[in-house]
Amino acid sequence: MRLSKNVEAFRPSPIRAMLRVVANPNIISFAGGMPGEDLFPIDDVREMVQVVPRKMMEIGLQYGTTDGLGLLIEEIKKVSEAQGFDMTKNKVIITTGSTQVMNIVAKLMLDPNDIMLTEDPVFVGSLGAFCSYNAQVIGIPLDDEGIVIEELERALKLKPKFIYITPTFHNPAGLTYSEQRRKEFIEMMAKYPDTMVLEDDAYGRLYFDEDTAKLIKPMKAYAPNEQQFIYCSSFSKIFGPGLRIGWMIVPNELYDVAEIAKQSMDACTPVFSQILAYEFIRTGRMDKYVVYLRDTYKLRRDAMVAAIRKYCPAEATFVEPKGGFFVWLRLPDGVDTDALFDECSKNGVVFVKGSAFTPDGRDNRHIRISFCNVNEEIIEKGVKILGDAMHSLMK
Ligand SMILES: Cc1ncc(COP(=O)(O)O)c(C=O)c1O
Repeated sequence: MRLSKNVEAFRPSPIRAMLRVVANPNIISFAGGMPGEDLFPIDDVREMVQVVPRKMMEIGLQYGTTDGLGLLIEEIKKVSEAQGFDMTKNKVIITTGSTQVMNIVAKLMLDPNDIMLTEDPVFVGSLGAFCSYNAQVIGIPLDDEGIVIEELERALKLKPKFIYITPTFHNPAGLTYSEQRRKEFIEMMAKYPDTMVLEDDAYGRLYFDEDTAKLIKPMKAYAPNEQQFIYCSSFSKIFGPGLRIGWMIVPNELYDVAEIAKQSMDACTPVFSQILAYEFIRTGRMDKYVVYLRDTYKLRRDAMVAAIRKYCPAEATFVEPKGGFFVWLRLPDGVDTDALFDECSKNGVVFVKGSAFTPDGRDNRHIRISFCNVNEEIIEKGVKILGDAMHSLMK
């Protein structure tokens, strides 16, 4: 058998591998980035399925058009217009999860060995998609306000094809770009118009306070150079990842090729899922549900932050997340992530080591602990185990 060069470049996700381990109910898992199953809107789904007309069911079980279900596209268009996107210059494509957007953009932009940029750290699933196209991925560091602009400019001089960023409620860094950093980023990118921006907003609706809500408007919705941006988001965190629905907003000029790239990947996104998503929005259920999620995740965030302050050494630092799912904890000097992982997993707690999220795989300073899929009581118990392990490794 002669496999392609792409296979050599595959980068398997350590989180997916760990999902098998954390199926054990005795393990406290801060590892996954998935919504709490206990929070899924099961009753809503049952009710919606009951009332969907037979004709619609027939559509749902049939192949659909590649760009998505017209009704759902229209709903997303309306919401996007309200957010400020110029929908005369851009179009919506519904995708099979936003993971598919990473694959479509990579397929459109990257020849083997082309340079592209990500933040460092970066969401491991997106990194895996980019690596599988044999790209040279260069990571640009983040500080507490977002991407470091001087480092970005240095890398832009290498003429990367595109840069992938998650400016809001970053996975794994938990941080949100400041207003000033967003401005600087937009201005810097305008100086390098040949490098596209892929702006991932998977968590944007999950903010924990109203001031943050004002700050996190997608950059594509107001940047003067918005045609340089492709935007994507997902129903995974605001409905259910098992539906596999995301969407992208692409400049009109890119729409045809993006649609053709998707055709060869899956022909269409599951139509039944799209009908559910459409009904979820149309009936007003989604808006209510998102409020419930924000309240619930905020309680979990508060519990995690309080437990870290109570149980972890003061030298363990982090940016308090204003939304989303994650705390990116910088470990005290001398605490090794492997040793910490071994010690914690012996005592029934798992997390993801920082090295999973860096393009060069070399971080030994951070761990990602997620608060999305554990209740407050378990968070306190698990963080105590984590804190005790850090103290004992510092001795
Ligand atoms: C930043 C980010 N982008 C994209 C995704 C992928 O989401 P999906 O493919 O389920 O839409 C995730 C999932 O965890 C994520 O954290």
